[in-house]
Amino acid sequence: MAILVTGGAGYIGSVTVERLRANGAQVVVLDDLGRGHHAALDRDVPFYEGRTGDRALLKRIAAEHKIDACVHFAALAFVGESVAEPARYFENNVEQGVALMSALLEAGVRRVVFSSTCATYGEPKQVPIPETCPQWPVNPYGWSKLFLERLLDSYDHAYGLKFVALRYFNAAGATATRGEFHEPETHLVPNVLSAALGEKSQLSVFGDKYPTPDGTAIRDYVHVADLADAHILALGYLRKGGGSQFINLGTGDGYSVLEVIECARKVTGAPIPIRIEPPRPGDPPKLVADAKKAATVLGWKPAVSDLPSIIRSQWEWRQKHPRGYSK
Ligand SMILES: NC(=O)c1ccc[n+]([C@@H]2O[C@H](COP(=O)([O-])OP(=O)(O)OC[C@H]3O[C@@H](n4cnc5c(N)ncnc54)[C@H](O)[C@@H]3O)[C@@H](O)[C@H]2O)c1
Repeated sequence: MAILVTGGAGYIGSVTVERLRANGAQVVVLDDLGRGHHAALDRDVPFYEGRTGDRALLKRIAAEHKIDACVHFAALAFVGESVAEPARYFENNVEQGVALMSALLEAGVRRVVFSSTCATYGEPKQVPIPETCPQWPVNPYGWSKLFLERLLDSYDHAYGLKFVALRYFNAAGATATRGEFHEPETHLVPNVLSAALGEKSQLSVFGDKYPTPDGTAIRDYVHVADLADAHILALGYLRKGGGSQFINLGTGDGYSVLEVIECARKVTGAPIPIRIEPPRPGDPPKLVADAKKAATVLGWKPAVSDLPSIIRSQWEWRQKHPRGYSK
C-alpha cells in the first residue's frame, strides 16, 4: 500500500518523504510546485504535478497506486500573505482541501495525517498550550487550517474517516540532503542564516518590548526530522486502528528571537547585525506547546530539537546549497 503525500516537494513534506522511504514505505507525491521543488525529491519517487483539488488527477493517482493513507501538507503557509490575500488562502487551503478529502473518500482512503498549526490557537489564554486550549485564529491562514480540522472531525463522525491533525509549532533545521528554502522566506532560522552568509546586511527583529525576559518573542522550535518522524508514528497509529486525534508537535521549550540569533552567532562565527523593527500585528509574545499528548498517544519524543542541533543542521545544508534547490 502507498501513502499519498500532498505538498511532498515542500520543506517538511520532502523531509517526511525521505524518512518514510528510509522506513520502507511506498510514497506517491502530489504537488503543484507553487512553493515546492521537484529537486527536493529523489528521482524515483512517483510524482504528480497538480493541485490537491484536481479530482480527475486524484482519480488517476488512485487508479495507478494502491493508496491507503494520505499525509496532507499542501497549503500556502505565510501568515502575512494570508492577511493581504485571504481569498487566495481560502481557495487554496480550504476549497482545494475540501475537494481533496472528497476525492480521498471516493477512492476509499480513510486515513489522513493533516498538517495543522499552532496558529489555530491565535493568542492563547494559556502557555504552554494544551490541545484543549480554545482556538480562535488571528489571521486567515490560521482559520483555513482550523476549517480543515473541523471538516476532518465532521467526516470522522459521518463517514468514518480517521485522522491525526498535527499542530506544528515552528519547524526548523535540515537533514543531510534537505533543508528549508522558501522564496520569499519569512521564517526566522533561515533568515538568520542568510544574514550570517552576508546575503542581508541586517536581520530585522520584530518587536523588543514583549513581556518576555529579553523583550523579543518566544517560539517553540522543532527539528524537521523530528516532525517527519511524528508523521510516521501517526500513520502507524492510524493503521493500528487508532481513533482521530488533535496533537501538538512542539518541545515544550521556547527560545526568544535574540536567543536564536545568539546561538546562530556561535554556530556560524558570523556577527549577524540586527535592526529592531515594530512588532508585527497578531504576533503573540510566547507560543510554546504542552507536548505531553504526542508522547502519550504517539510515543513521540523529539530527538534532535535542541536549538544548536537545529541551527547547525540548517547551516551545514545552507552552506552546501547556498541557492537552495535552484540550479
Ligand atoms: N513550516 C512551519 O513551521 C509550519 C508550521 C505549522 C504548520 N505548517 C504546515 O505544514 C505544511 C508544510 O509546510 P512547509 O513549511 O513545508 O511549506 P512549503 O511551502 O515548503 O510546502 C508546501 C508544499 O505544498 C505545495 N502546495 C501548496 N498548495 C498546493 C495545492 N493546492 N496543490 C498541490 N500542492 C500545493 C507547495 O508547492 C509546497 O511544495 C503546510 O501545510 C503548513 O501550513 C508549517
